[in-house]
Amino acid sequence: MRKTYSDSINLNAYEIRKDFRIFERKIREKPLIYFDNAATTQKPNSVIEAEKRFYEETNANIHRAVHTLSYESTVLYQDAHKKVADFMGAKSWREIIFTRNATESINLVAYGWGLHNLKEGDEVLITIMEHHSDIVPWQMLRNLKGIKLRFLDVDDEGRLKLDELPKLLSERTKLVGIIHASNVLGTVNPLEEIIKEAKKVGALVLVDAAQSVPHFSIDVTQLGCDFLVASGHKMLAPTGTGFLYGRRELLEAMEPFLYGGDMIETVTVEKATWNELPWKYEAGTPNIAGAIGLGAAVDYLNRLGMEKIIAHERELLSYALESLSDFPWIEIYGPKDGEKVGVISFNIKGVHPHDVAGILDEEGIAVRSGHHCTQPLMRRLGIENAVRVSFYLYNTREEIDKLIEVLRETKRLFEI
Ligand SMILES: Cc1ncc(COP(=O)(O)O)c(C=O)c1O
Repeated sequence: MRKTYSDSINLNAYEIRKDFRIFERKIREKPLIYFDNAATTQKPNSVIEAEKRFYEETNANIHRAVHTLSYESTVLYQDAHKKVADFMGAKSWREIIFTRNATESINLVAYGWGLHNLKEGDEVLITIMEHHSDIVPWQMLRNLKGIKLRFLDVDDEGRLKLDELPKLLSERTKLVGIIHASNVLGTVNPLEEIIKEAKKVGALVLVDAAQSVPHFSIDVTQLGCDFLVASGHKMLAPTGTGFLYGRRELLEAMEPFLYGGDMIETVTVEKATWNELPWKYEAGTPNIAGAIGLGAAVDYLNRLGMEKIIAHERELLSYALESLSDFPWIEIYGPKDGEKVGVISFNIKGVHPHDVAGILDEEGIAVRSGHHCTQPLMRRLGIENAVRVSFYLYNTREEIDKLIEVLRETKRLFEI
């Protein structure tokens, strides 16, 4: 029988790295250490090959023609929806809409549902921890429709103030938008509890799972959320891929987001009717090759096993947190315990995060510095920027040791 990685108890990151050609790359003669996974992950050879194979062997537009290539493309594209649907525990593949990214998925809900269902006086509740992509679309609706946008705060440590949730919810609340795992703090929010509270007032729940879907197993049906968004490119798939899960009844009832080819059933001079799900929301020629790459990424993750991926990341996380906590000149943001994904944001006191990131880059270490598209959260934490390291399945303890070594040198350099 063919041996898969998931036959072993732990992930072997050294074996996994062989599947990623990019790790042969040197940055200034130094091995690449990639700690910017929360922005986008590297792509395994199988994903790149799946895209390449599509262009070399099958390339044709979907749904449009009777010829063989078009038929095969259509099947491959549809299969990719099925893989994502199974991966997410959706009842039907028709509940999975392919988009360019998580941002587009949230905009689809804001325009397709919000624009047509919300009215003045209605409320949308989000959290201060949200990524800009789950804030700005709702601000757009506030401006267009006169809805009220409310925010659930975090405490000084960066935990959601869940005791304030019941006070913020009322029959006026029509949607709760909640980030599952924070792209800054790494904290995993207790979705079940939040969904239960939201349902008591009849609000819909949109989960921003961009930072959770790549790391651990999620079952949308069991969870009982109404919408869930994720980025394909943060889970090994090509850039330009993302998806929206929506409960079928909602997707059937909502208005399209983009209008034009492929999303229609009939068109007369007077009017048009809409195609069946999911095509109603996938206007125009989609990213067919990217979608096939996303399917290949799901296959790869399944082969490894999601429970092993999160266990590996958590091991790296506690190793890194333990090492960093030895340094009083480093300030780490967010809770150090509780349920987390492999994300750490920090600052070296007195050194700008861009300088830290620049020095790390000199040593071949890729990290992110800046506001991480979370300016309201940054303001709440009393900072403007931070350095962020984020781990994935191919990272190793050895790489963390190198990070720590360079951070020590940075301290010496700045004479702190
Ligand atoms: C929590 C969260 N939500 C949404 C997004 C936006 O994702 P995308 O760039 O795929 O639109 C990100 C990206 O970093 C994120 O971390």
